[in-house]
Amino acid sequence: MSNSHANGSHRANGHSIADMVDLASGTVSREIFVNEDIYAQEQEQLFARAWLFVGHESQIPKPGDFFVSCMGEESVILCRDRESQIHVFLNSCTHRGMKVCRYDEGNTPVFSCPYHGWSFATDGKLAGVPYFKDAYKGELDKSQWGLIEVPQLRNYKGTVWATWDKDAPSFEEYLGGYRTYLDFLLDTWDGAGGETEVFGGIEKWVIPCNWKFPSENFVGDRYHNISHRSVDLVGAGPSGSGRRDTQERVGATALDFSFPERGHGTISFLRPNDGPIPSYQHSKIVSDYFAHCENERRKNYGKWSRFIPGPGTVFPNFSYLPRQPRTIAVWHPRSPESHEAWRWFLVDKNAPAEVKEFLRKYYISYSGPAGLTEQDDMENWNYAHNASRGAIARRYPYNYQMGMGHDAPSFDADGLELPGLVRNVTVAKAAEQNQRGFYSRWADFLRASNWDELASWRNGHSNGAKFHNGAAARAGSAL
Ligand code: FES
Ligand SMILES: [Fe+2]
Repeated sequence: MSNSHANGSHRANGHSIADMVDLASGTVSREIFVNEDIYAQEQEQLFARAWLFVGHESQIPKPGDFFVSCMGEESVILCRDRESQIHVFLNSCTHRGMKVCRYDEGNTPVFSCPYHGWSFATDGKLAGVPYFKDAYKGELDKSQWGLIEVPQLRNYKGTVWATWDKDAPSFEEYLGGYRTYLDFLLDTWDGAGGETEVFGGIEKWVIPCNWKFPSENFVGDRYHNISHRSVDLVGAGPSGSGRRDTQERVGATALDFSFPERGHGTISFLRPNDGPIPSYQHSKIVSDYFAHCENERRKNYGKWSRFIPGPGTVFPNFSYLPRQPRTIAVWHPRSPESHEAWRWFLVDKNAPAEVKEFLRKYYISYSGPAGLTEQDDMENWNYAHNASRGAIARRYPYNYQMGMGHDAPSFDADGLELPGLVRNVTVAKAAEQNQRGFYSRWADFLRASNWDELASWRNGHSNGAKFHNGAAARAGSAL
């Protein structure tokens, strides 16, 4: 295998990255979804460098609490030590590699390795070594053999993120202007700045397709609504219509936001000032609660209350729906051919129990392996993946040309500063600028040798924006 580290020619497995992600012509090679060597290169150059979501602080409220998560392929332990500090450790013994924690979650004073019995405190320190005096003659330097810890960790509004690269920019810099949109996922429904929490267990299941299929879908695939026709017809939404709160979108402007220099993207709506408030056809407690939140939202968010946040992906593999359902998914790579999907569900911590229960039922009927909507999506991704593996199929790239070379109509944002490359797709219905931004960033990671090269926004030249062919409606203030 050759790669950009080895020879500087930006090639993977004999394929040029520029050919595989050809954003000038709007095509992406199928090879990047099925090729073993490219997959290995992703682990080294992408998952070992990017900021990755590990879990939520509400999963580990007490000292000694832990939750076993993943960063890329590798198992990690998110835990809270005796001093209540949060850590993320590689879940692998420093002696001979055994997994030191084989549970999904729990509470423990130490992580005891099942192989030879080394034990590690919840702050990662090597605490106990069998036969330390006899076998090691007391000479083992325990301070050097603690659990391997991530060099950078950030608790952002309850969500815990980490990166294996000490040179990566801060999490906030990694997000850039995208933070504005992510906040709609993480803030409480009423916009008053309260806490959210993970509700119930984490759904985990294997999806037999490359992890990039769901990531690019959530980054902004408005085009695939046809897939969800049946769910729309059932009227499974919390207001009794559609999949979601479709009534509030009447007269709204449809906007796509892309951050090609960072890879993130989301799709949203901007409703008219006098747009309707959704109502929830359920018990009085549930309806009253959401009516209250919506009214508070209008006060707390001011002009931003017109903004209806939609699905998004924080590059590379954190995808979410910000409201009804409010859920996080991480697509953990397992091989080119499969990934493990993990789904967290968020609720406002102070919501009444009946509201949480109402949301729980709605969430699991929408998302996850039994969710009506997610089943539609998985069907597409799995068949697409399999159909792309063949010797013949691999010769033909996928098409990402939608909207290229066409200016999108401008719109009146009424003074709202909307970060990112903003594209008005109200009339066009859909575009693929967000997907092009995602793959442009993917290619950056596979080419770059370090974060100096990846943080292109610092020196003012834009890696990703050039692929947009001037077609975005306008560039916002904080790309
Ligand atoms: S592998 Fe853990 S103690 Fe030997
Ligand atoms: Fe979908």
